[in-house]
Amino acid sequence: MRHATVHPRTLGYLGRALSLEYSAVQQYMTQAALTEAWGLAEAADRFRRETVEEMQHAERLVKRMLGLGVSPNASQLRPANVARNLVDLLRQDAVLEAEIVALYNEATQFCRRIQDHENAEFFNGLLQDELHHAAEIETWLEALGVPRHQEPNERAYF
Ligand SMILES: [Fe+2]
Ligand SMILES: [Fe+2]
Repeated sequence: MRHATVHPRTLGYLGRALSLEYSAVQQYMTQAALTEAWGLAEAADRFRRETVEEMQHAERLVKRMLGLGVSPNASQLRPANVARNLVDLLRQDAVLEAEIVALYNEATQFCRRIQDHENAEFFNGLLQDELHHAAEIETWLEALGVPRHQEPNERAYF
């Protein structure tokens, strides 16, 4: 088999990533529904597009896992936290995207270290997408008047 030597830790990263991507799908889908209910049609559209992108990430992971001969096994779906306004929703998204970025960063570095170039490339592709998402959230928050680089412990929702 082509990937008979895949490292168990690489499979662990794939499983954690799938859980986070499904969690992102649930979170953005919930936010699309919430903002639609608040009458914020444009925000709802953006969250809907985000939902589709996260679904496509989950699909990439599923295909990779099947290609490696393992069953997709996401087991830790996070609850989608609700909030009372758009800014607080986006702050939750910034936290989730940062977590996904950290995971893909670690997975990419690990695969590079063990010379698994194919999986390093795979994780790096997802990392670039998520860095883009994280930057978009920051830009959106900035457009709503929230300054950049706010410390997490200053955020009211914790
Ligand atoms: Fe994603
Ligand atoms: Fe994302």
